Amino acid sequence: MIGKSIFAAPESLAVVGASPKTGKIGNVLMNNIVQSGYKGKIYPVNPKEKEINGIPCFPSITGIPGKVDTAIFSVPAGKVLDIARECGAKGVKNLIVLTAGFKETGRAGAELEKKLLSLCEQYNMRLLGPNCVGFIDTHTPINATFLKGFPPQGEIAFISQSGAMLAAILDWSRLAGIGYSKIYSLGNKADLNEVDCISEAADDPNTKVILCYIEDVSCGSEFLKKVTQATLKKPVIILKSGTSQAGAQAASSHTGALAGSDLAYNTAFKRCGVLRVYSMSELFDLAIAFTSQPVPKGEKIAIVTNSGGPGIIATDKVESYGLSMARFAKETIDELRLNLPPEAGIYNPVDVLGDARTDRFKFALETVLKDENVHSAAVLLCPVAVTEPLETAQAVVELNKAYPDKPLVAAYMGGPSLAEGAKVLSAGGVPCFTMPEPAIAAMAGMSMYRKLKERTAAEITVTDFKPDQKTVKAIFYDVKRDNRLALLGSEAAEVIAAYRIDTIPTVLTHSPEEAAAKADDMGYPVVLKVASPRIQHKTDVGGVKIGLKTAGDVKSAYVNVMENVHRYLPKVIPHGIEIQKMAPKGIELIVGMSRDVQFGPMIGFGLGGIYVNLLKDVTFRLANGITVNEIKEMISETKAYTLLKGYRGDKPVDLEAVSKVIRRVAMLAVDFPEIMEIDINPVFAYEHGVAALDVKITLS
Ligand code: COA
Repeated sequence: MIGKSIFAAPESLAVVGASPKTGKIGNVLMNNIVQSGYKGKIYPVNPKEKEINGIPCFPSITGIPGKVDTAIFSVPAGKVLDIARECGAKGVKNLIVLTAGFKETGRAGAELEKKLLSLCEQYNMRLLGPNCVGFIDTHTPINATFLKGFPPQGEIAFISQSGAMLAAILDWSRLAGIGYSKIYSLGNKADLNEVDCISEAADDPNTKVILCYIEDVSCGSEFLKKVTQATLKKPVIILKSGTSQAGAQAASSHTGALAGSDLAYNTAFKRCGVLRVYSMSELFDLAIAFTSQPVPKGEKIAIVTNSGGPGIIATDKVESYGLSMARFAKETIDELRLNLPPEAGIYNPVDVLGDARTDRFKFALETVLKDENVHSAAVLLCPVAVTEPLETAQAVVELNKAYPDKPLVAAYMGGPSLAEGAKVLSAGGVPCFTMPEPAIAAMAGMSMYRKLKERTAAEITVTDFKPDQKTVKAIFYDVKRDNRLALLGSEAAEVIAAYRIDTIPTVLTHSPEEAAAKADDMGYPVVLKVASPRIQHKTDVGGVKIGLKTAGDVKSAYVNVMENVHRYLPKVIPHGIEIQKMAPKGIELIVGMSRDVQFGPMIGFGLGGIYVNLLKDVTFRLANGITVNEIKEMISETKAYTLLKGYRGDKPVDLEAVSKVIRRVAMLAVDFPEIMEIDINPVFAYEHGVAALDVKITLS
């Protein structure tokens, strides 16, 4: 067995469409496999040839005498199905199909791809591609691609949905001196997808960090489950493109309008512990940092610089990237004061001054690295006449070895005069950048990985009661029988009450007299709201009357609301008028749910009221498996939190009651997949308890 990966496993490899003709894909592929030093058996397959590269060639897969583990296809799309069938009959385990002309070309191609996949299922074969560049494992070694050249060995696994991107990256990596453990080209992802590759790379002993370029994920639930396991083993960094707000535009609720697919990806990545980046440079900066430095044990960073400006820039970035400036121990400050010139900056950032030579840099860096309050450090160097970039670099590398638990990054800000020093740093494993920002960002990314990993292992919320699912089912049954998707306010209130979310009872009435009688029963003051699933914003059509104090008020308000609605929306016939006891004013919050096609229900929480979409103070998490910590984070990361804690002398509100609403909306959304959207806006939060005032629920 050469390797236990589904791709690298082959002890025998058939190259279907191998060609002796220079310039053909089948020729490049064959050369790459041979030149990579692949030690298994190679079987070129081509009906026209007797041998290729001095290796005996077979007219067909079935003509090969021995067993074949993997077959790589470089034949036109029209021939793929027949050959795949032969592979199945021969007992081939894996297919890598480089051929284009499948799903990416339209309906006929998609049909062809479906047939290929069902053949693979029939014969129990795994499939990489079609329409991919292939697969590389530098340790096996094998280069089953038609890319130019073989990358150096390294500890980065790179998974890409774009073949062209792989080609570019590989070429660039040679210049940058970056090595790889594995390279996967996903192509159309008919069978094997990013999750399979991430999972495999996570178990690969030669891989330290996993990089991924994707345009979408194939299966949200599988991604959440398996990538979470992968990130607990090693960092997974994803550059995701092709984000779309189409979902958000189509949404009818506030929560849905604020969500959107990109946010769903963010939320899902956070849940799994994936680090998301937005550029290729960030992707590789982080990869270099992870492969060469340990993950910092905390977020406190020390900065040592010979120049004030870059020190300030880096300090600004520290906070905004989620790190914090270390506060040095008294002994550290005393030592710095004693040994640096009086003009030097001895607090963080440590400014060793423009005339600093290597000894001063070295002393300052070692002093801060010794400090227990420092988890990591950044060295920023600007070239002035007396600077010793090369010697300083050597000293930094030595110190990095002497303090192996404290990661280091450097920014050598300049050009040719720093090139040699920068090379020494990189070769010595200290990531070296030309500007302070990416240096700090790389350290922040590593620190974020630590935090995400801790969070991924956090406790999942538990159900503390049994919801009344029977009532919810009955209401949904009635709504569907009524040919509606939107629930009336009174129905929606009953649904959330069944999940023990405190709400103000809402009663549907059909005449001014009935409304007055119900108001008498519940006590004054009351609120009247038009009941119609076709009216999204009731206030805008004069459909809400508040503060009604007598039966007479209620009757005339009833008539007035009906007249208003008729005037604004003559074609809408309301179901009646809902009447609700007026609730005392609380802090207005929103709790909602929007269902993402890939990742399922997302729970939104934030500042509620009529300015929700304007203020956009709403944060999201996945409902499935929501953790206690996530709910706490949701509450504390919104601006609303400032109000909830008690703003300007106000009493703090009941945060436990607020978190219960979030938890229970999440439960409701998970229990009933037919719910498309939920909006509870506002939820009034009080010193004791909460009250859900207006509830909208839409079914699919
Ligand atoms: N079994 C084995 N070999 C066969 C065969 C069979 N049943 N039928 C034909 N062949 C051989 C041909 O004889 C030919 O050999 P030759 O080069 O010695 O003449 C070889 O297979 C290739 O067939 P050919 O018809 O010449 O195709 P091609 O090389 O022009 O194109 C692909 C094949 C796969 C390269 C092309 O269809 C393609 O998909 N190109 C795009 C690839 C791509 O971009 N992929 C995605 C990257 S992101």
